[in-house]
Amino acid sequence: EVLRADGVVEAQITARQSNLTLSGKPARLMTYGGFPGPTLRLREGETVRLNFTNNLPEATNLHLHGLHVPPSVDDPLALVQPGESRLYEFTVPKGSAGTYWYHPHVHGRVAPQLYAGLAGLLVVEGPLDALPELKGAEEHLLVLKDWLFSGNRIPAWTHMDWMNGREGNLLTVNAAVRPTLRAQKATLRLRLLNASNARYYRLALENHPLYLIATDGGFLEKPVELPELLLAPGERAEVLVRLSRPGNYRLQALPYDRGAMMMHGGMMGDQGMGMMDHGMMDHGSRGGMGDTGMMGSMMGMGATRLETLLTIVAPASPKPLPLPASLAPVERLEPARATATRRFELGERMMQAEFFINGQMFDPARVDVRAQLGSLEVWELVNKTDMDHPFHLHTYPFQVLSRGGKPAPYRAWKDTVNLRKNEVVRIAVPLRDFSGVTVYHCHIVEHEDRGMMGILQVK
Ligand code: C2O
Ligand code: CU
Ligand code: CU
Repeated sequence: EVLRADGVVEAQITARQSNLTLSGKPARLMTYGGFPGPTLRLREGETVRLNFTNNLPEATNLHLHGLHVPPSVDDPLALVQPGESRLYEFTVPKGSAGTYWYHPHVHGRVAPQLYAGLAGLLVVEGPLDALPELKGAEEHLLVLKDWLFSGNRIPAWTHMDWMNGREGNLLTVNAAVRPTLRAQKATLRLRLLNASNARYYRLALENHPLYLIATDGGFLEKPVELPELLLAPGERAEVLVRLSRPGNYRLQALPYDRGAMMMHGGMMGDQGMGMMDHGMMDHGSRGGMGDTGMMGSMMGMGATRLETLLTIVAPASPKPLPLPASLAPVERLEPARATATRRFELGERMMQAEFFINGQMFDPARVDVRAQLGSLEVWELVNKTDMDHPFHLHTYPFQVLSRGGKPAPYRAWKDTVNLRKNEVVRIAVPLRDFSGVTVYHCHIVEHEDRGMMGILQVK
């Protein structure tokens, strides 16, 4: 899909309806030609001419999630009508080597379109990839996504889906259920993407650490050893895996409770919804409901179950590479130099499945934040709900300063950061290079569709 000449890359991406086989069964999906879509491998500094064609029977568009490119190019509000095309022309920023992705961004339709399979990876390569400890590793791209089917179709969204964000019982890695990866080398470099609408993956390699080398926006300063890694919807991570002895290594998703409402023993039917609509229950008073019996037995919080996502089979006599001693310097942002501090409060009216930032639902005609080009800002993100929300900002990569008052353990470029319930996360946002209109939103895309998004204008 990628043609290269004189530092210019030409690529074509087409959205279409497609019939695939998932877990041995036929599935009617919408994809960029397969799931995941074609991986766009780009290099720092290259000029990209990406032509996007919409062959779906509905409007869509293409968002370059995480790439620092002008919002006039990566315009989240522009639509591409059925049968039409749009050219995305941009330069891959220097220092951006990392793992990104593309997906639709039509407000109100992101959840159904993403869920149906419209997602692909965008890999940016840079000089650091030549480091022997990285170059010598075996690279794999792993796209994590869950699905729910009724026959070969994705069923319509229920009220409950809009409240929680839809999860599904079919967990896949690159569209395969519990695949086996037979490693040729003893060091693996895994580029991970959570492309699920709402499912969180608390990743762990049974009995072995993960070595985090890159987050959403590229490399860390040095590898960070982690017993587990939480990947919220929209987030990416690159990890090194060292296979020190032969045998199987299971990549698991450990139980995680994101505060979604669940019914004990099944999906909520219309009857339950009726009661909820009549105000018999709201998300904030769940504690009390247990005492009243009826709703208490119907509703509850639920952690996901432990699942094996992938089994890695090590080579016969593995000799893993040493870890890289250092990676890329990560710029230190000075919050003391910030010219504005802003507060963003996430709120919800759960029973209506309406979501807010600073008390307001998304309005494309309203500018929520006006900021100055070239300035550094500190954003205080406050989750006033009982559910986790992954906060995502387009165009301008940021760094987490603190979480719950505790300083971030290492510097890293991010574009999506998870907020647990009642949590306060402070981020430093350099509004550099590009002016224009862009958005921030929750990356549980049902919440984005139902209002949890705002507009930032930089000039
Ligand atoms: Cu991946 Cu505006 O989102
Ligand atoms: Cu994005
Ligand atoms: Cu949310």
